[in-house]
Amino acid sequence: MNSKTLQNQITYQKTMINANLKYFKPSTAKKQKTFLDEITLSLNNKPKSISPKFFYDETGSKLFDEICSLPEYYLYDSEIEILSNIKTDIKSYIDSEIHLVELGSGSSIKTRILLDTLYSLQTSVEYFPIDISDILTHSTQELSSIYKDLKITGIIDTYENGLNFIEHYDDKPNLVSFLGSSFGNFNPNEGIDFLRTISAMMKESDLFLIGFDLKKDESVLHNAYNDSKGVTAKFNLNVLKRINTELNADFDLSKFAHHAVYNELQGRIEMYLKSLCTQTVKIPDVNMSINVLKDELIHTENSYKFSISQIESKLEKASIGINKIWYDSRNYFALVLGQKI
Ligand code: AVJ
Repeated sequence: MNSKTLQNQITYQKTMINANLKYFKPSTAKKQKTFLDEITLSLNNKPKSISPKFFYDETGSKLFDEICSLPEYYLYDSEIEILSNIKTDIKSYIDSEIHLVELGSGSSIKTRILLDTLYSLQTSVEYFPIDISDILTHSTQELSSIYKDLKITGIIDTYENGLNFIEHYDDKPNLVSFLGSSFGNFNPNEGIDFLRTISAMMKESDLFLIGFDLKKDESVLHNAYNDSKGVTAKFNLNVLKRINTELNADFDLSKFAHHAVYNELQGRIEMYLKSLCTQTVKIPDVNMSINVLKDELIHTENSYKFSISQIESKLEKASIGINKIWYDSRNYFALVLGQKI
């Protein structure tokens, strides 16, 4: 095993699966330390919260895939519809060999649409998926078996650390994609900061493809986050199961309920875990007891919905010019192609 240390002192373990597929991840000990530190801090805050980035253990990633196949979860279908329709259109913005960098690599169907587009323009393609979840190791192996000569370098870490890692990998331009409206998880200030980070790291010749979920009828939003099969509820509750397994806590999942509401003023879906009784949760490893009141809400996610003018102003603040905005037939979702200005 090789390792690489960055300016910010993260040590990555390098794993070579075959000549075309390798990935880097921070040491497991370091990852668990971050998880424990962040969780203990945020569960002691008022109000209590758990960051949505912790949803994605193996079970959580699978549950998210299941959410994407639900009829109520329009985000996935809308974005696939757009991606499938813009293959030729997007090519007109690419004039030389380009790498694909994917933030939050997620579903490989979207990746495959983008890879097919690049393969129709160039003979070899390099792909850099960045994802917080270990699931990246499975999804890249699957891709590697479909695209035999695709060169894949995966980074299992946060977007910022991953981008830092591949910054100036070589002189070729990158198509940096950030799909699925993951951007909606950021609060407004974090969102601008994030876009500025991306913009600062991009070369002039790089392209940025980002998905935004649009404001729409409240009942459509409500149903997307309160599906009739209860998969979103399972996904939300799974984070407690993960804390139990990985941090040795004793959350009783039957004493919490999924709660998701649209906050019109803030323009966001808010997800919570609602305590069904007054209870105490223990994390013995760090000698901690957490008291939770009946009906108390533990915040787990914000999912912002945007207007076109909000999208334009955010990108402008980060010095990202808009080349093109594409929509699905229902105008539920927007895919924006931008470039540093
Ligand atoms: C992965 C952040 C885009 O906000 O819709 C799905 C996560 N949460 N159902 C979203 C999610 C509940 C999803 N993102």
